[in-house]
Amino acid sequence: MQAIQHLKREHRVISRMLARARHALHPLDVPVLGECVDFFVEMVDRVHARQEEHVLFVELGEWAQDLAHGPIQALQKDHNLARAYLRAAKDALVRGPEHHQRLSDAVRRYTDLMEAHLKKEDELLFELAQIALPPSKDADLIEAMLVSRRETIADEEYQRWLEVAEGGGRAQTLVVRNPSPPRVDVMDARTLGEDQAHQDQDETGYSMRAGGVLFEEDEHRAIWLHDFGRGLSVQANQFLIVDSGEGMVLDPGGPKVYPDVLAETQLHLRGGNLRYIFLSHQDPDIGTSLNAWLMDTEADALTSRLWTRFFPHFGIDKLIADRLKPIPDEGAWVPLGRRELLILPAHYLHSCGNLQVFDPTSRILFSGDLGAAIGIDKSVVRDFDEHRPYLETFHRRYMGSTKALKAWVRMVRGLDVQMIAPQHGAMFKGPEMVGRFLDWCENLECGIDAFEHLFKLPEHP
Ligand SMILES: [Fe+2]
Ligand SMILES: [Fe+2]
Ligand SMILES: [Fe+2]
Repeated sequence: MQAIQHLKREHRVISRMLARARHALHPLDVPVLGECVDFFVEMVDRVHARQEEHVLFVELGEWAQDLAHGPIQALQKDHNLARAYLRAAKDALVRGPEHHQRLSDAVRRYTDLMEAHLKKEDELLFELAQIALPPSKDADLIEAMLVSRRETIADEEYQRWLEVAEGGGRAQTLVVRNPSPPRVDVMDARTLGEDQAHQDQDETGYSMRAGGVLFEEDEHRAIWLHDFGRGLSVQANQFLIVDSGEGMVLDPGGPKVYPDVLAETQLHLRGGNLRYIFLSHQDPDIGTSLNAWLMDTEADALTSRLWTRFFPHFGIDKLIADRLKPIPDEGAWVPLGRRELLILPAHYLHSCGNLQVFDPTSRILFSGDLGAAIGIDKSVVRDFDEHRPYLETFHRRYMGSTKALKAWVRMVRGLDVQMIAPQHGAMFKGPEMVGRFLDWCENLECGIDAFEHLFKLPEHP
């Protein structure tokens, strides 16, 4: 079919640019990588992948649903992950020389992924399409792909990108859509104290709240990942703890953010292994993407013993279900790299099976929903009194019991906590701010104690 031949031709063009990008990694040639990344964004993502997604996947899904459904889902997942690597690469390019390692890692991951991806499409999907699609559809497919392309790129621009891939064109002459404006610098322990207005939107509509390194010392890092949330979803923080090449991702969230959180995790692991996916409780913002994490990594998922039979409702494949490990009510110590992490009980705060992670190396307490504030865009709490109303609204309703909160404070006072990092909103940094938060918790009336009055039958309108 002409339509398939057209996509195959584009694959050959893409392969040339992948080889060029790979070549530009050693030694690092930033201008060439920049040109390649622009090509991947403009041609591969905005033109080629779009043709497949809007035309071929749809048609094939209709004509050969049973056979094509699985492969299309897998290939779509590749497209999403590829986009996440491109976003990371573009971001690193914008940020400059300090982020060249990240640029190199993102491009290497992208080329690895795409080389395998093109092979899968050439050898599997396109062959399937040749068999399953009626030849009478060919002209319609070609036309639909052309329409799809012209929705995103002019014919001359398309031709120029082809010339770039042939080695005869120069990307600098093109009108390339600029990446998002530079975001704030990646935070580290020194800059975390600064106020950061860090909400900006790139052209994909992502809300890019910059995360950063919270702690780094001797092969041990605690990282606040970028915030990739958007739309109606409540803002949520995702964290990664890495020690000696092993990682634990905490509350990685749902399918909307999955490709970006996975890509960021892999980039921060720098070739290391993800060992754990930690799920503090069962809510949708915690681990709706769990099946994908278990499928795409070799990590075990750790959660309260109360939820191991409930998480499978998110669609956990039975072949990987045994990697969902129950943590007992009392909590546990788990090894990570050359060190250990402490999983703490925080039940009824707010879920009945609720866990937190204390990292004794960084002395950061990853507190899940406890300490969360919604509706305020700050990376760190600088003025506790100003922050208190935001805490109050959330904690009075979402935390289950005053008694549980007091018991938690007693337990946590036995740890040397330097920072509290909640799953939503700003961090509490330094012993004084941590102390203010604990004192406040100790005296808060919440949950059933504050809302017992609600338990009466509603009046009939
Ligand atoms: Fe393709
Ligand atoms: Fe929650
Ligand atoms: Fe939450």
